[in-house]
Amino acid sequence: MDQFQTIDVSSWPVASIEPRGAEEKTWLEEPPSGDAEPRRWLFKPITRHDWGDQGEDWAEKITSEVGNLLQIPCAPIELATRDDERGLISLDLAPRPFQLFTGMLVMPAVVPGYQVGADRVKGRPGHSLANIRQALEDCIPPPDAKVPAGFSAFDVFVGYLMMDALVANRDRHDENWAILRPADPDLPDMLCGAYDHGSSLGYNLRDVDRQRKIDNREVAAWVMKGTAWRFEHESGGKPPTLVQLASEALSLVNPTVRTYWIGQLEAAETDDLVNVVLKTPGMSDPARTFASEVLRLNRERLLNEC
Ligand SMILES: Nc1ncnc2c1ncn2[C@@H]1O[C@H](COP(=O)(O)OP(=O)(O)OP(=O)(O)O)[C@@H](O)[C@H]1O
Ligand SMILES: [Mg+2]
Repeated sequence: MDQFQTIDVSSWPVASIEPRGAEEKTWLEEPPSGDAEPRRWLFKPITRHDWGDQGEDWAEKITSEVGNLLQIPCAPIELATRDDERGLISLDLAPRPFQLFTGMLVMPAVVPGYQVGADRVKGRPGHSLANIRQALEDCIPPPDAKVPAGFSAFDVFVGYLMMDALVANRDRHDENWAILRPADPDLPDMLCGAYDHGSSLGYNLRDVDRQRKIDNREVAAWVMKGTAWRFEHESGGKPPTLVQLASEALSLVNPTVRTYWIGQLEAAETDDLVNVVLKTPGMSDPARTFASEVLRLNRERLLNEC
């Protein structure tokens, strides 16, 4: 099976530094091809420990390819190396003249006194589906989104939550979704395509732990521990699972929207999802088996529970 390419971006010039997010990252300019406008990509290195490397690069690549299968608007991702660093590049979803505003900046218009996710307030007050729906009320879907005509921005956002549940991404906090503002003030704001999916598919487990869970048939218990702790929940109580959150989100939209997203998931068969994993280089055998099993189990859970 053909593998996804890995691009050496060591010679790409630095366009700017991205101050948002947990650690500083670098925007790089792709060498121009023909007359096309030069494109910018965010280089995100993986995290390395004494015990081994995390897999943010393959996790983010697999999620974007799975998103493509479901036709969810996602940042295109390529595996990349930059000097001696391993990582990924994420194509700029907010090229000029768009301006990107993360959820953290749009929520206060809906929730007076909104406490941002970075404050780590227990129970994540304010970051609820109802409030996000209101924050996205005047937005349209992302540029060139391949979603049915008539879909609202929130209808698309619900697709992001279904994808998060599928890949076990617990990290959809209020800086990991955004809106885009066009230069022309007469044009509506748009939901930004989905980005930052490095925290999925058990990216930060050690291979010995992955293998033990595979051998002991504990992957099913592991996926059940995937909670939507970044969204409002009873403080002190247990947050719902990612699948429960996706199910709740799907119950908030028009039945045609719900049927559409479930249909997309049904159409993406387990073998299609596993093939994405098999095409991804740089994964150990336990990481590959574990990620495939997570996709298989979560697809089943979503189809049963939504
Ligand atoms: N493809 C993209 N297009 C436009 N902006 C992006 C893209 N990817 C990331 N960003 C911007 O860069 C910020 C940091 O990137 P990202 O969220 O991917 O990394 P992070 O540092 O791992 O975040 P976190 O703190 O959530 O772990 C995002 O909050 C967003 O504002
Ligand atoms: Mg982020």
